[in-house]
Amino acid sequence: MSISTASTPPALAAVLRAARRVVVLTGAGVSAESGVPTFRDALGGLWARYDPLEIATPSAFARQPRLVWDWYAERRDALRLVEPNSGHRALVAIERRVGDFLLVTQNVDGLHARAGSRSMVELHGNLARVRCSLEDRIVDRWDAPPGDEPPRCPHCGAFLRPDVVWFEEGLPAEALARAEDAADRCDLMIVAGTSAEVLPAAALPLRAKRAGARVIEINPDATPLSAVADHVLRAPSGEALPSLVAAAWPDASEGGGAK
Ligand code: APR
Repeated sequence: MSISTASTPPALAAVLRAARRVVVLTGAGVSAESGVPTFRDALGGLWARYDPLEIATPSAFARQPRLVWDWYAERRDALRLVEPNSGHRALVAIERRVGDFLLVTQNVDGLHARAGSRSMVELHGNLARVRCSLEDRIVDRWDAPPGDEPPRCPHCGAFLRPDVVWFEEGLPAEALARAEDAADRCDLMIVAGTSAEVLPAAALPLRAKRAGARVIEINPDATPLSAVADHVLRAPSGEALPSLVAAAWPDASEGGGAK
């Protein structure tokens, strides 16, 4: 168990520069500064009365498929109005500077990909994608019919669903295996914007620690990970990540810089 120290980006610049195999684990907090409510923030307006932990489940979809479909359609539509923030772009800069890099995200908003992240695993899926609830194949086009049913798969007629991982569901096996392998091999893990409450993602920093990696937590609030991390940056990721990149590589332009 390490005694984590509150730190600052300049103090961690050498840690990042010296790292050869970096894994970054992100959660909803890295999208907060883009205006995307964190997972445990209630969506506003008519959705405020629904608890995401009650809607994002297979049983809710079985009971009220159109309500679950519409809740995700509302979040998908809202994503068209937001942009990646400087925290997303700073992670692209790190990816382009570090030879062996993997971004492991719990987010389903697609903002890392839009910012330019390429070496990435989406542990919980992606809201922009829709799949057949029976065959699991991705469906590119659909029309939400009037009435109380979601759109149906054009191939088999089963309901379509968002391509995200619901509570009570397992994670995509290949994505999780890739994330766990990277956690076991890395020498630095940066954990940004996650409450570190949901397994198996929340176990990745512990795997990295056990494998001898340093762990940096970036979060304005304390989490169960804070006592395990070697260093803590108590700040919003949209500030801390660009500051960390600028301190480590003063010549890096925001958003990347050549490898
Ligand atoms: N910068 C960094 N962290 C932030 C910021 C910010 N600007 N704003 C909020 N946070 C932190 C919060 O303090 C909290 O610890 O981001 C975290 C968001 O936590 P959650 O809302 O629980 O989101 P997340 O950790 O991604 O949830 C994990 O659980 O609910 C399931 O599948 C869902 O992917 C989700 C997973």
